[in-house]
Amino acid sequence: MSTTAKLILQDQTYDIPVVEGSEGEKGLDISRLRAQTGYITLDPSYGNTGSCLSGITYIDGDAGILRYRGIDIGELCEHSTFMEVSYLLIYGHLPTEAEYARFKERVHHHSLIHEDMKSFFTSYPGHAHPMAILSAMVCSLSVYHPQLLEPEQTQSQRDQAITRLLSKVRVLAAFAYKRSVGEAFVYTRPELDYLSNFMHMMFTTPMREYVPDETIRKALDVLFILHADHEQNCSTSTVRMVGSSKANLFASLSAGICALWGPLHGGANQAVIEMLQTIHADGGGNYKKYIEKAKDKSDPFLLMGFGHRVYKNYDPRAAIIKKYCDKVLEHLGIHDPILEIAKGLEEAALTDPYFIERKLYPNVDFYSGIIYRALKIPTNMFTVMFALGRLPGWIAHWKEMVEDPGMKIARPRQIYTGERSNNYVPIGIRP
Ligand code: SDX
Repeated sequence: MSTTAKLILQDQTYDIPVVEGSEGEKGLDISRLRAQTGYITLDPSYGNTGSCLSGITYIDGDAGILRYRGIDIGELCEHSTFMEVSYLLIYGHLPTEAEYARFKERVHHHSLIHEDMKSFFTSYPGHAHPMAILSAMVCSLSVYHPQLLEPEQTQSQRDQAITRLLSKVRVLAAFAYKRSVGEAFVYTRPELDYLSNFMHMMFTTPMREYVPDETIRKALDVLFILHADHEQNCSTSTVRMVGSSKANLFASLSAGICALWGPLHGGANQAVIEMLQTIHADGGGNYKKYIEKAKDKSDPFLLMGFGHRVYKNYDPRAAIIKKYCDKVLEHLGIHDPILEIAKGLEEAALTDPYFIERKLYPNVDFYSGIIYRALKIPTNMFTVMFALGRLPGWIAHWKEMVEDPGMKIARPRQIYTGERSNNYVPIGIRP
């Protein structure tokens, strides 16, 4: 395979290096294009543009494959835990027993936030969206860790920031929920695992103790593993963009949380449930009406939870989450009509030529909210759940980037299409 491509511009021929990844993906390395030719490329939503070389996650969108550090997510969901997958993504290998024990101990050790921060929560109105609180609080955490904000950090400082954020963001999320329902904040318990502690902080009150449930813990582990990373998605690219200025990890993650909030990205899991509830309120089985709305270009309505920039096949995560919907609802003895509506809508869409031609399948957000509903997690907390799951992926990409000696600040170019040279006209004589 030739390692260069030929680019002919006017009467000049340029050699463009070809880059090939470990899975055979090929790219044109245009990092010297402007210097060589005076031209730049234009790709507004980066659908054809690679921003980096990365060894963390591999997606084959046509085959519906997702692997973390080469391990298929189906295997990780079956055999691993969210904490172990977090270590795998961040440090690049499955931990030894000693590494895993130390990692879990360090994450648990840092599960307190400064008591001053509790007053920050009470300054928000009860109706504040928890994603607004979470992004603000993650950035505010940096105030209490000045030693972890230096642009040039040691491996030890990076590890300290990583374990503190993995542990404390879960606390901030639970506290945001408690604030919204007017309940007292609850602290972690030493004997509980990472996710059972999150559920304990969410649902224990002075009147009743949250009772850990193995089926629920496993379902949450699987959900969080499936959300843990997804290569250069919008929020991860945001974390890389912010981190490339040598902004600290707290600020980079805070920006990633904001990017995830959008309904075209992580905010879709909240929008899916709101869509399904609308369909339910409208009789529950009128799928055709909503599929026609989604196809109508004059209607801004989209079938939320459907479609994906990379997957042009069934999102492998959606298939696993759909199975866990049945498991969790059966375990809890819940019959949720919303699940039936979701399955009916999926079946109707997947037989409609519009969706077939465009290869629009359910994505990770289509079924996840149904499990969160069954766990009594409020709809406006669904994207927070996505953020908690995506934390290790964001951290892994930030770490991979800042540890690259060749890292440079991200600064895209543009093609200017505005006014040419203009003169200033004093206000009194403007037309
Ligand atoms: C996530 O990137 C990641 O990896 C993200 C993520 C992760 O783990 O980080 O997987 C998480 O964000 C999943 C996506 C969650 N968003 C939604 O479910 C919102 C609904 N989906 C769409 O907004 C859309 O499918 C996107 C944003 C997900 C993808 O958009 P693209 O790649 O820009 O695709 P497109 O808009 O160019 O769509 C191609 C065609 C268009 O029609 P035509 O112009 O060809 O006629 O498909 C249509 C679109 O109008 N289309 C839809 C649709 N999604 C695409 N039509 C109706 N309903 C939809 N949901």
